[in-house]
Amino acid sequence: MAAAVCPGSFDPPTNGHMDVIRRSFSLFDRVVVAVIRNLSKTPMFTSEERVGMLRSLFEGDPGIEVVSFDGLLVDFARSRNADVIVKGLRAVSDFDYELQMAQMNHNLSGIDTVFIPTSPEYAYLSSSLVKEVGRLGGTVEGLVPQEVARRMKERWSQ
Ligand code: PNS
Repeated sequence: MAAAVCPGSFDPPTNGHMDVIRRSFSLFDRVVVAVIRNLSKTPMFTSEERVGMLRSLFEGDPGIEVVSFDGLLVDFARSRNADVIVKGLRAVSDFDYELQMAQMNHNLSGIDTVFIPTSPEYAYLSSSLVKEVGRLGGTVEGLVPQEVARRMKERWSQ
């Protein structure tokens, strides 16, 4: 039973994240979506909210589990008996930093990172851009799952 960890901030989850998580699940028997609890910048959604949104998005997919974590990703991956870490790559610009993290994580634990190229239709998507577009009055429909778009609008109207 090969298991993968898909880590991220998911503030908020985008259609690009959904694509990478779903495609990970077509490669591995079990996928653990690992939501980092503490972000350096103030998040739009708390870790509980991010976990809640992802859980409802993957409801009915018994092989996909959503959990929050703190501390080193490799410690979390080991605690979940994960074989690999999966990361999406949108563009060459992602590669330098992702490679560095993959090598550090391997050096720390022996756990390898598998890169999945983001589908081209999501290559320009990032959580921070989605937040900026939405905050400035642009539409986020088609960029994030409908439920996430609804939660974002709700948050801005508060
Ligand atoms: O969605 P993001 O912000 O690109 O996710 C980054 C994340 C959570 C994958 C990364 O910050 C991470 O792995 N943090 C855990 C702390 C850690 O293990 N640091 C050493 C990495 S080499």
